Amino acid sequence: MMTANRESLVAAARESCQSSHAPYSGIHVGAAVRSAGGNVYRGTNVENASYPLGNCAETSAIAAGVQAEGARFRIAEIAVWATDGEGRVLPASPCGGCRQRIHELAVDGGVNVHFPWQGGETRSASIDELLPFAFYLP
Ligand code: THU
Repeated sequence: MMTANRESLVAAARESCQSSHAPYSGIHVGAAVRSAGGNVYRGTNVENASYPLGNCAETSAIAAGVQAEGARFRIAEIAVWATDGEGRVLPASPCGGCRQRIHELAVDGGVNVHFPWQGGETRSASIDELLPFAFYLP
């Protein structure tokens, strides 16, 4: 059973898929971050003909949060969603680079990450589970 928080964050990520610019992969990804301040920021993937220049949805959502809240922005919770061109849900846990980005701005005490997984299930895991032994500058 989804908690109210998780459900609304997942719904925001799902809606964000509709803004996706994904003409190359056809994979429409949406993300929604709830900040420590209680605000929700959305993002979507933005692909580019020069493929490595594309942005992940999580990266876009985090950039929106930093733009709005500045240096105090911290991630309390994040949801990701992905669909194909026909709106079918695809498994989509955050990529390795986005795990590091989430880790960088995580609230102390851990961030829950929600994402669609195999069998149509929505899974939740902490960023520490997804990225053990994360890189940091001592
Ligand atoms: N993508 C994301 O938006 N987030 C991830 O965590 C993994 C991948 C996007 C990048 C690209 O536009 C598409 O998914 C296919 O790789």
